[in-house]
Amino acid sequence: MTRFVIDQQVVDIEMPDNLRLNTFLQEFHSDCPQPQCDFGFYGFAFGQSPFPVPKIVQQALIDNVDKGKYADVSGIKKLKETISIYNKKNFQLDVKPNRIFVGPGTKELIFNILEILHGTVILPTPSWLGYLPQIRLLRKNYHILPARANVKINSKDLEHLILRLQDRQKILILNNPNNPTGLVYSQLELEEIADVCKSYNVLIISDEIYAMTTYDSKQFVSMGKIYPEGTFVTNGISKSHAAGGYRLGYVIFPENANGLKKQFNKILATEYTSTSTPIQHAAISAFEESPELDEYFEVTTKIHQIMGDYTFNRLSEIKGVKPTKPQATFYLLANFNHYSDEFYANKINTSQEFSESIIKHPYHIALVGGDSLVLERNDFSARIAFVDYNGKKTIQNYIKNPPKTHSERIEFVNTNAPKIVGGLNMIENYLDDLKKHNLYKITNQDIFHS
Ligand SMILES: Cc1ncc(COP(=O)(O)O)c(C=O)c1O
Repeated sequence: MTRFVIDQQVVDIEMPDNLRLNTFLQEFHSDCPQPQCDFGFYGFAFGQSPFPVPKIVQQALIDNVDKGKYADVSGIKKLKETISIYNKKNFQLDVKPNRIFVGPGTKELIFNILEILHGTVILPTPSWLGYLPQIRLLRKNYHILPARANVKINSKDLEHLILRLQDRQKILILNNPNNPTGLVYSQLELEEIADVCKSYNVLIISDEIYAMTTYDSKQFVSMGKIYPEGTFVTNGISKSHAAGGYRLGYVIFPENANGLKKQFNKILATEYTSTSTPIQHAAISAFEESPELDEYFEVTTKIHQIMGDYTFNRLSEIKGVKPTKPQATFYLLANFNHYSDEFYANKINTSQEFSESIIKHPYHIALVGGDSLVLERNDFSARIAFVDYNGKKTIQNYIKNPPKTHSERIEFVNTNAPKIVGGLNMIENYLDDLKKHNLYKITNQDIFHS
């Protein structure tokens, strides 16, 4: 038999938790002979927009299926020009097309940026689950910067950490609007962070993939505007245009980074030649101004806000649960640490054990636990995504009859997103059973074997 020797840094990487959960559920369904195992589950774990890709973008893809040639490494000219105008219109960023690189998703581009930059990475937590495995795979030095109670980066803490780091270059990963909290940084908060970074020559990767999902668009400010000489801004169509599967993102390089851009070009050419040409043509229509897209952004962010407000309010009603109030995205972070003693009493000692216990019968709740958000193992916070509903039907219902009052919005959630409503009730049931120390008995039944 052939033996394969795998590099240790690959073995050390864990499967990202959302994908791990998916595989786990699929295996579970296919392995379990009991009829009870054929359950659906409340899907609070998957970070995917529920809406269809805008029709105009779908049509553009169909119209460009014949584009079979490789494109320029950094992206086709028309697309970069369109992205430049899009950034001016939506984020007041003055960016020449020659500062833009298009790639197969921002995840890949973030990896490529980390790849070419020397230096120690500063990773604020809670964090999107994608960054740390990349940092580890690249064997980069990194330091965690835990958030304070407001669940944001504190500029004083940032400065203290920077002063301790020896490396001649440091890279801060900023994710704004934020996954998992749904929070948006104010201009003042960004300026404080930028001041520290400027003083100590720290570069920033500003992951702004959720920018267009900001519920009140005036609230979002790009770090690229505040610190243009040291910020890499990444964005794309995965979240705002519900087109994660298209795999298209872009990065805006800092001003005056010509030498670096050459190196980057070389690395992209070495790794993937170019981004899919038909997808790039489709993406032009995703970034071009059109009444159809304006309506799409307006309606989809309104719906995210309605679902987010409902989820926030419902979780806030449960004793001891502290959720963040989302201002963008389709996530919030719920803090269940009030129940720590109850968790321990039920033999649930880590956040991973928490996410495993809450998905088991009879709760069937999938969420992303704190360990995947790079929190301490015993931090019982979890990311709740509010996307488990039929996005296409919900858009139609919203356009037919947009809810105006508070009670109409609640009715809208009840009608369009019954699984969100049911799942949040079930979280409350789970916590009740946890308090009654009922959990261990139930989950130990033969109904579920993991
Ligand atoms: C914060 C954040 N950044 C980046 C990505 C990846 O985006 P893309 O599909 O452009 O690779 C995601 C996707 O979940 C995300 O949540």
